[in-house]
Amino acid sequence: MCGIVGYIGTKKASPILIDGLLKLEYRGYDSAGISTMENGYISNMKDKGRVKNLYELEGIHDLSGTIGIAHTRWATHGKPAKENSHPHMDNSNTFSVVHNGIIENYQELKAFLYDNGYHFLSQTDTEIIPNLIHYYYSRSTEIDEKLLHAIHLACKDLKGSYAIEVLCKDEPNTMIVARKDSPLVIGVGEDENYISSDIPAILSYTKNFYLLNDGDLAKLSKNQVSFYDLNLNSISKELKSIDWDVSACEKDGYEDFMLKEIYEQPKSVRETIGSRLKKNEKVNFEDIGFTKETLSKFNKIYLVACGTAMHAGLAVKPMIEKLCHIPVIVDIASEFRYREPLIDENTLCIYISQSGETADTIAALKLSKKEGATTIAISNVIGSSITREADYTIYTHAGPEIAVASTKAYTSQITLLTLLTLYFAEVLESVDAKVINEIKEELLLLPEKISEVLQDSTKVKDFAHRVYTEKDIFFLGRGTDYTVSMEASLKLKEISYIHSEAYAAGELKHGPIALIENGITVIGILTDPNLVEKSVSNLQEVITRGAKTLIVTNQELNKENYDEVITIPNTNPLISPILSIIPLQLFSYYISKEKGLDVDKPRNLAKSVTVE
Ligand code: AGP
Repeated sequence: MCGIVGYIGTKKASPILIDGLLKLEYRGYDSAGISTMENGYISNMKDKGRVKNLYELEGIHDLSGTIGIAHTRWATHGKPAKENSHPHMDNSNTFSVVHNGIIENYQELKAFLYDNGYHFLSQTDTEIIPNLIHYYYSRSTEIDEKLLHAIHLACKDLKGSYAIEVLCKDEPNTMIVARKDSPLVIGVGEDENYISSDIPAILSYTKNFYLLNDGDLAKLSKNQVSFYDLNLNSISKELKSIDWDVSACEKDGYEDFMLKEIYEQPKSVRETIGSRLKKNEKVNFEDIGFTKETLSKFNKIYLVACGTAMHAGLAVKPMIEKLCHIPVIVDIASEFRYREPLIDENTLCIYISQSGETADTIAALKLSKKEGATTIAISNVIGSSITREADYTIYTHAGPEIAVASTKAYTSQITLLTLLTLYFAEVLESVDAKVINEIKEELLLLPEKISEVLQDSTKVKDFAHRVYTEKDIFFLGRGTDYTVSMEASLKLKEISYIHSEAYAAGELKHGPIALIENGITVIGILTDPNLVEKSVSNLQEVITRGAKTLIVTNQELNKENYDEVITIPNTNPLISPILSIIPLQLFSYYISKEKGLDVDKPRNLAKSVTVE
């Protein structure tokens, strides 16, 4: 969703700001803009469309300011248009503001400002912020820190979520930033500071970051950062080093980030396993350190997330129930948070989020904490919001995921949840050690097996070429294969814009089979030996009705029955989603390429959904 970049230092700000925005393009946006502090005034340049269009705006190359703020907007209030793009300025052109998030009480604040003589040029919720700051600033009796006080008062009036950067014409060597329920980090350099909503945008300039908490404000000069809490008390923060590699945020010779990330999976799964699992040793989750007594008190486990992360939860539900004997409920965060779910101190709630910034997932986490549940966050982003809210955090360590369509984060989430399940089962002694050891052995073999799947993509590519003009594609499976169907179907929708449905194969006869007609494409996933015969029968039913079929399997099948069969290595059915999803990620990718679409930045989507 919207992205923020800021710079305060000694270099010309505009190229740094635009470079940062280009790195944030993957988040999804429809317009872009920058404000820089020029000699005695604030320049504000913006338009709808791509970030690179900014280079064509008149006068942009003449900017010489060394302080500036920048933004990519993903429209919520008001259509994509120049006047709705950020930065927004107040009526007197004293303040310039960029904002991520949603101000829920903006109508009320707008009415208040109207009554006080302000007018508005946009339909956005954001435009009230610079004007509200002006309102407090122009009436302030403060002698010291007048700007900081005015911004603090304005923030106190805002309901909803925000990450903001503010420039003020009267204080040309200062920038103020603040956040609530929307991410913001400060990168520290020598005689310069960088601001961003996402670490990758400024990772090529610094690896040292301050992470802001909800309610924090920071005042920046080129060589100083001062922090304040919501009551404007001065606070101190620890500088954190992020060990992500800059090249991990670049395409590295691949045509698209998504393809790169698909091919990174042998490495990312290996990194997720890390030192948590070694041959002939118990799974290591010292950082969580649950005792048998603690784990025994949990009478149910919730796995709560959105989109692909929720599908990772679905994939591991059968394993947790089988190995730990604890009922598992997988829930969509946006449903969970409004449903008064039955949770108490005997509930364990696990929140899964690649970005760690998904608004619904954060809200669901807060709700369960209030009800007394124990919470674990699973995230890929160090210091992200859910990691700061949860009782315990475990990281997937998959490396930055830039493509909007999630691939390596999914396989790493399942890998980490598998490790966690094995750890629980070992502590609980809930299942024979032989069962656990077999899964452990298979898990350690996964990076090799993923490489095997990735070795030859010719069949998937050919099949994509044959069906890319289709209007509907169906995915079928049973058990964990059904959960992979759902993820594969989501991937296809996201980047190919083809309508697609995933069905539990046994459910077909209860309605959906009415949709099967001559020539339709059906993709079957068959990796569980206990269910394969049943699924084969269901596939036969669609073939009889004229369906074209692609099968992903590790079983011996009569290949002649199908249009294409992709054979993947065998593994324990409980962890097979980590392998069976890979050809289907590639399938979506190649369909999208055949259609000439923007694989990494599909229409209407954002990488991190920071509004509900
Ligand atoms: C995945 O391909 C999607 N773009 C989307 O469903 C995503 O998984 C979802 O928005 C959750 O994001 P998160 O993992 O960052 O919380």
